[in-house]
Amino acid sequence: MSKTGTKPKKTAAKAKAPEEALVPIFVMGKRYEVPASLTIQKALEYAGYQLVRGCGCRGGICGACGTVFRYPGSYRIEVGLACQTVVQPDMYIAQIPFFPANKAVYDIETLPAVGATLGSLYPEIFKCVGCGTCTRSCPMDIDVLGYISKAIQGDLTAVAEGSFDCVMCGLCAARCPAEEVQYNIAILARRLYARHVAPKAGHLARAVDAVEKGKFDKALEELKKTSVDDLKKIYKALEIEPDMADESWKPRDGVFLVGE
Ligand code: SF4
Ligand code: SF4
Ligand code: FES
Repeated sequence: MSKTGTKPKKTAAKAKAPEEALVPIFVMGKRYEVPASLTIQKALEYAGYQLVRGCGCRGGICGACGTVFRYPGSYRIEVGLACQTVVQPDMYIAQIPFFPANKAVYDIETLPAVGATLGSLYPEIFKCVGCGTCTRSCPMDIDVLGYISKAIQGDLTAVAEGSFDCVMCGLCAARCPAEEVQYNIAILARRLYARHVAPKAGHLARAVDAVEKGKFDKALEELKKTSVDDLKKIYKALEIEPDMADESWKPRDGVFLVGE
């Protein structure tokens, strides 16, 4: 109590963040304790590993971080992306190494853009037993068995479209009993489709033409002479296309637009 009889003012105690619970995990057999909210990728770094391979975008896009793990009490081997999967207590974890998956060598310009090309360069597609392990392993929820079935049927377009979201993580191939390399078969289909089947994008050809004719050369030269601070200002002042802009949206300054 103070002299005046009023309660002394409490000094504002700084709120202390509650400490996060640690959970045990096993990395290639060795036990570590890591914060429960971390992804496998962050947990590996927390445990002291420096990720020089098997790590790229950290956002579920590049497919570099394929990981194999098992939960306690379960016989089942699970797979996932280390940057997207949160650790669980007592999880056993191993990063999948690079492995020498079959990869055909070809000249996309001269390959016939027909479904049979898939089977001729990757005859192992006909060994598929339809087990569906590839689909269950895919972190992108792709119907991998579905597009492999279409490859067997020689439907190039269906393989290209069905595999569009593939991030090339390799987890399907790592588990396939028929030793298919699904992602290499799929990317061949997408390359053939894009090079020979899909309609050409007129705006892309016009943009390439404008680049080749030097439309942007002067501006690029000026940018190269600009200081880092001024570059930052230019970057921050850029007009960004609104999220829900319709097809007709154009920036206010149209000087670098390529004519339609
Ligand atoms: S894992 Fe292999 S064998 Fe099984 S469905 Fe997929 S491609 Fe076929
Ligand atoms: S199809 Fe295979 S390589 Fe592609 S994202 Fe799915 S599991 Fe990964
Ligand atoms: S680091 Fe790119 S998908 Fe995980």
